[in-house]
Amino acid sequence: MDISFYDRFSKVYDWLSPKWYYHKARSYAVQQLNLKPGQTILNLPCGTGQNFEYFQKYLKDSGLIIGIDLSPGMLNKAEIKIKRHEWSNIKVFRADARNICDKWLKSNIDNKIQVDALICDLGLSGFPEWQSIVDNMLELLSPNGTMVIMDWYLPKPSLRGAFIKWIGKGEVDRPIYQYLEKRVNQFRVNTTFNRGGVFVATAVK
Ligand SMILES: C[S@@+](CC[C@H](N)C(=O)[O-])C[C@H]1O[C@@H](n2cnc3c(N)ncnc32)[C@H](O)[C@@H]1O
Repeated sequence: MDISFYDRFSKVYDWLSPKWYYHKARSYAVQQLNLKPGQTILNLPCGTGQNFEYFQKYLKDSGLIIGIDLSPGMLNKAEIKIKRHEWSNIKVFRADARNICDKWLKSNIDNKIQVDALICDLGLSGFPEWQSIVDNMLELLSPNGTMVIMDWYLPKPSLRGAFIKWIGKGEVDRPIYQYLEKRVNQFRVNTTFNRGGVFVATAVK
């Protein structure tokens, strides 16, 4: 995937993917993270930072929110939100999801970093090598940390699936939550969002 597509998309992203559209799924997903003030959360990919306000509801400007994305355009929109709200606990980084691992975090953020919670929203359906990204995310998560994935799953070809794929450039039929389920001891999934097209899977390491 050419990341320049997302740079162009970033200009209209918050308009084409407005807050109300994923609000139920996002608020449920962030609730599942069980965030407490002072904790560290990693959001990959963070896009334009639509999740930040949901995290702050729990963190109340404390702890650390790490947002990672490969598109400078998306990150620019995220930075604008951070400045507008004067949020001081958010750091955003430009990086390829395939390179994010425990070693990357330690060398780019802090050698003693502990990630308490992790959310991959609308990313794994578009990432190449998505299975190894899930494995790396689980590896970098602290023991008892929570990982949440929010994404599309429409296994049967449909007009809706084709439209979502066209607009977001993601595959809508990847068995993402099924893959996660096999790798953890505690797992639950809610498949009821956006008329059954969007799932929120929660795993505790
Ligand atoms: C559909 S958007 C989702 C953004 C955000 N999570 C949200 O829910 O609004 C997909 C994001 O994945 C990012 N992306 C695509 N390929 C990537 C990669 N290889 N590494 C990191 N980010 C990537 C894009 O720049 C884009 O911001």
